[in-house]
Amino acid sequence: MDQPFTYTILQATLKDLSSLRELEHECFGADAWPLLDLISALTMPGLVRLKADIDGKMVGFVGGDAHRNEGIGWITTICVLNAYRRQGIGSALLESCEKQMGLNFVHLTVRVSNISAIHLYEHKGYHQVDIWRNYYNDGEDGLILEKRLAPLS
Ligand SMILES: CC(C)(COP(=O)(O)OP(=O)(O)OC[C@H]1O[C@@H](n2cnc3c(N)ncnc32)[C@H](O)[C@@H]1OP(=O)(O)O)[C@@H](O)C(=O)NCCC(=O)NCCS
Repeated sequence: MDQPFTYTILQATLKDLSSLRELEHECFGADAWPLLDLISALTMPGLVRLKADIDGKMVGFVGGDAHRNEGIGWITTICVLNAYRRQGIGSALLESCEKQMGLNFVHLTVRVSNISAIHLYEHKGYHQVDIWRNYYNDGEDGLILEKRLAPLS
């Protein structure tokens, strides 16, 4: 049986651009972010950018955007290389991003057909609060999921 991977969650920087590009391409295909969006994700002040690293190789990434005026943090992207899935890396990236954003509510958008991601989110305490019709380029609907991290005061 395969040994479990030992990974570390680290801050991502612009030095990770080419790795992130490859990761996004493998994980999202036609939905992969364009180069300028990737550069923004790795450089814009205030954004959360974390990578899962195994021996210097980026095997996963999560982006977060804390909308502090609304009290809602958005998970903007999350992905793990296929060969490293189902080892808890996606969960660890998600939890680290939630923690870094430090807000009571976290939201994200997911394709209605993305069953593996929906399973991950439900597993981590997210539930559907809305549906955005025709949200994706090909017309697929997006589910808006929410997680409450702290009780309402
Ligand atoms: C979604 C994604 C990030 C999950 O990463 P991961 O490292 O495999 O996630 P984890 O190992 O932390 O999975 C945690 C739990 O989520 C659920 N889950 C994850 N992948 C699943 C799958 N393919 N089928 C069913 N459940 C799944 C399981 O409950 C799993 O726990 P278990 O392995 O103990 O059963 C990864 O599949 C991915 O990169 N997909 C492509 C990109 C993508 O769709 N991103 C989301 C965009 S909204």
